[in-house]
Amino acid sequence: MKVLITGSNGQLGSEIKELESDYDTLECIFKDLPELDICDTELLNRFIIENDIDAVINCAAYTAVDQAEENPEIAEQVNAKGVLNLVNALEIVNGKLIHISTDYVFDGNHSHPYKESDQVSPIGVYGETKRAGEIAVMNSSIDAVVIRTSWLYSANGNNFVKSMLRLGNKKESLNIVFDQKGTPTYAKDLAKTCLDILSDKSSTRISKKGSLYHYSNEGVTSWYDFARAIMEISNIDCKVIPIETKDYPTQAVRPLYSVLDKSKITSDFKVTIPHWRDSLTNCIKKINHNS
Ligand SMILES: NC(=O)c1ccc[n+]([C@@H]2O[C@H](COP(=O)([O-])OP(=O)(O)OC[C@H]3O[C@@H](n4cnc5c(N)ncnc54)[C@H](OP(=O)(O)O)[C@@H]3O)[C@@H](O)[C@H]2O)c1
Repeated sequence: MKVLITGSNGQLGSEIKELESDYDTLECIFKDLPELDICDTELLNRFIIENDIDAVINCAAYTAVDQAEENPEIAEQVNAKGVLNLVNALEIVNGKLIHISTDYVFDGNHSHPYKESDQVSPIGVYGETKRAGEIAVMNSSIDAVVIRTSWLYSANGNNFVKSMLRLGNKKESLNIVFDQKGTPTYAKDLAKTCLDILSDKSSTRISKKGSLYHYSNEGVTSWYDFARAIMEISNIDCKVIPIETKDYPTQAVRPLYSVLDKSKITSDFKVTIPHWRDSLTNCIKKINHNS
């Protein structure tokens, strides 16, 4: 199966690149800006048709949550119209799609894990545009799955883990919010899940039926506890001080609670999900190995 990975230089795309050789039945083609812009309808159609693409894992997105509040047009263009372009191109070739979405489609008012069937209600531009992308996929006739994930990090790119490691080595203390709860996701674990779903390693095939899924690592934490774990695992002597969200104002409002219920993806695709702390340990080992 010929698989196009869009946005392939990002966190998730880079992890897929590292795992791809484990999957004999998949031939992956990695593309990102400026070579393949998912907003360029003609280029995208031509690329997918001329390269006989059977499936796409869409890792392309406008992920700057705060900047999205100031640049809603760009966020809309990439996260909604770009996804529609992909869907339209795949309809022509009868291709499959794995599309990645976000916990930010929820408002965070729950106190128990969000199921796929729960009401969405994004509280910012990023979440709204990602929701529009989900709708574009769900309304199409292609075989597709949309996987919502949360708090993504990896050894590649900019993310909370790498910021904490950098700042923790420079500062004596860091103020981190304790009243936002969620679950971190190691991009490598999500990458493996996407590849398993597309390959023979999964017993269930992608189908239109029940195409929305939640995926994060297991467990629940706060940004404060996550930061403490990063310092502990890395043996960094930096004090982490818990603060409230109201004392750390950001351009975009974040959901206070965004834990995702993973029972549907574990049951349908038989995936095993590691605990967030085990995956964090693996990622930090890799960061240390790379540096
Ligand atoms: N990061 C998180 O915490 C998080 C949480 C929940 C869900 N997600 C979702 O998970 C997915 C993967 O996230 P990620 O963290 O891997 O994102 P990322 O690191 O920001 O990577 C996104 C990639 O897409 C590229 N891109 C942007 N606009 C594009 C376009 N028009 N055409 C083609 N490529 C384009 C980016 O290029 P440039 O860097 O040059 O712009 C970047 O290489 C996204 O759908 C995201 O919404 C992320």
